[in-house]
Amino acid sequence: MMRKMFFSVLFAVSLFGVDGYSVYKNHCQKCHIEMISKKETLKIFKTLQAPPMVEVANRIRENITITDDDDDVKRFVMIAFIKEYTKKPAVDYSMCHAMAIERFGVMPAQTQLSEEERQAVAEWIVDRYEESAF
Ligand code: HEC
Repeated sequence: MMRKMFFSVLFAVSLFGVDGYSVYKNHCQKCHIEMISKKETLKIFKTLQAPPMVEVANRIRENITITDDDDDVKRFVMIAFIKEYTKKPAVDYSMCHAMAIERFGVMPAQTQLSEEERQAVAEWIVDRYEESAF
């Protein structure tokens, strides 16, 4: 119980005090809109450079299944995937719809990020959209 609380508090501000939302705003927002409905997305689709982040998060959440239904494990795996993807995006393991890849191409690697920033933004994505459907 104590241990769990300790880790939650630690991870809430992220290990080295890097704020995931700031990383998103500085490095991701120019391509990934933070929040938008499916309906609005279709309207402005032509102007987009990438799938909205709410969609990205939902796709990943839908695609990754942990058979014993453990939420902490699922969160960990989602974060690991996002971190790895920002480092080395590849069509082979993109979870985006084929149509999105065709339209936008594969994401450019975000090599400018430090390990701490990568962790913080990945955590932010997973937690930000926990309750947000697309
Ligand atoms: C120059 C535009 C651009 C920037 C900047 C950008 N992305 Fe992307 N991203 C894309 C495109 C295009 C896709 C969809 C194609 C793909 O999956 O590679 C994508 C897809 C993704 C995916 C989905 C991968 C999957 O398989 O479902 C994640 C996660 C992601 N981006 C995270 C980030 C994060 C985090 C940042 C900021 C650190 C970021 N992106 C910055 C263009 C961008």
